[in-house]
Amino acid sequence: METFQYMGMPKVYFGQGILKTALDAEIPETVHTVMIAYGGGSIKRTGIFDSIVDYLSSRNMKYVEFSGIMPNPTYAKVQEGAKLAVDAQVDLILAVGGGSVIDCCKVIAVQAKTDKDLWQSEFVDHIYPTDHIPLAAVTTVSGTGSEMNNGAVITNESTLQKNGMLGAMADFVVLDPSYTLTVPMMQAVSGAFDTLSHCMETYFGKPAEINVSDEMNESVMRNVIRNIRAMIKDPKDVKVRSELMWDASMAENGILKIGKITDFQNHMLEHQLGAYTDCNHGQGLAVIHPTVYRHLLKDNTARFARFAKEVFGVDTEGKSEEQAASEGIDALQAFIREIGLPCTLTELKNNMRHGTGDPTDPELLRKIADSTIITKGCARQMDADEIYTILTECI
Ligand code: NZQ
Ligand code: ZN
Repeated sequence: METFQYMGMPKVYFGQGILKTALDAEIPETVHTVMIAYGGGSIKRTGIFDSIVDYLSSRNMKYVEFSGIMPNPTYAKVQEGAKLAVDAQVDLILAVGGGSVIDCCKVIAVQAKTDKDLWQSEFVDHIYPTDHIPLAAVTTVSGTGSEMNNGAVITNESTLQKNGMLGAMADFVVLDPSYTLTVPMMQAVSGAFDTLSHCMETYFGKPAEINVSDEMNESVMRNVIRNIRAMIKDPKDVKVRSELMWDASMAENGILKIGKITDFQNHMLEHQLGAYTDCNHGQGLAVIHPTVYRHLLKDNTARFARFAKEVFGVDTEGKSEEQAASEGIDALQAFIREIGLPCTLTELKNNMRHGTGDPTDPELLRKIADSTIITKGCARQMDADEIYTILTECI
């Protein structure tokens, strides 16, 4: 175990039909104006928006809408939301959506309390948030686990950087797995793979010895893999959605990271891929992971071998550690193929709904490699040339 400090987490209300219980308990009478923040409108089609509005009306509370938060939310969108929150004197933000909506609102909640340019404060002056408008996260698509941490991944379009900012931690969280039943299957699988990615990024960190967090992580990974398969088989099974929803929170609420050092190098790379192409986060990760791991196989062989056996059930009996490790990465690759996620940048390009840059263009890949944050690396530190090689191997 590495040394650690453990702090409380947001209060979570989990279960079908739990929204009213949560709002009754958590919204005090002193709240006058609520901002309902959401994405492209799925919450209107699914009826979640109406149920929130009806609830607020029943308590004579005013609301303002902040709509159009895009997948891969931008810093400009944060500024727009913060201005509305100030102008409308909002005293509670309800972020209703997935990682993009929740991340955007975490930074809106902070930006509305200060005139400072938060990008400058965090990345240049290293000053971090101390105050925020109360915030609640109502998750409608699971995967990122954003609801239970204070990280917010924001794209600065002027500098073409997609970076993790620190925003507000939600004051309470509503997780109703039935909300996720309407998520298109490709998005649902991509989100669940993001969860698996968070687990793997943590599991392949330090220290080398297995600790309790790693053993819990193995359980979560097995659960994610089993339930992705179950979700594809029966998209209407809300029990399966429940498992995946809590898996997502578990993977990013800090519990699995206790006593661990992580580098999240796959995420750093995917974030820049997203900054340049606007690709889907989980799908970008699906393309990258196996290739990054093949590059690191010799630097973390024992852990990859254990992953093969404990997570994918590879029969490692009588095999060398390196052979077992390699078969584990093959099993991961085969799983990605099986669940219909892209395995190459070419396939990613074919899946992109609103992409702006071509992820198969070597010149663009060079820019992505050169702008990727390179961490110290838990297994081994890479450099921009190796990142570029990885990207070209992914084409
Ligand atoms: O915009 P609407 O119309 O709501 O549609 C959304 C969106 O198109 C749709 N959707 C959401 N709930 C739905 C639904 N469709 C039907 N029924 C519902 N109930 O889903 C689409 C994707 O939503 P989005 O929020 O973009 O997806 P996700 O949750 O995967 O979030 C991705 C963002 O989170 C960041 C990613 O980088 C990316 O920007 N991440 C945040 C993390 C964090 N804060 O901890 C960690 C992650 O590693 C990740 O980087
Ligand atoms: Zn992620």
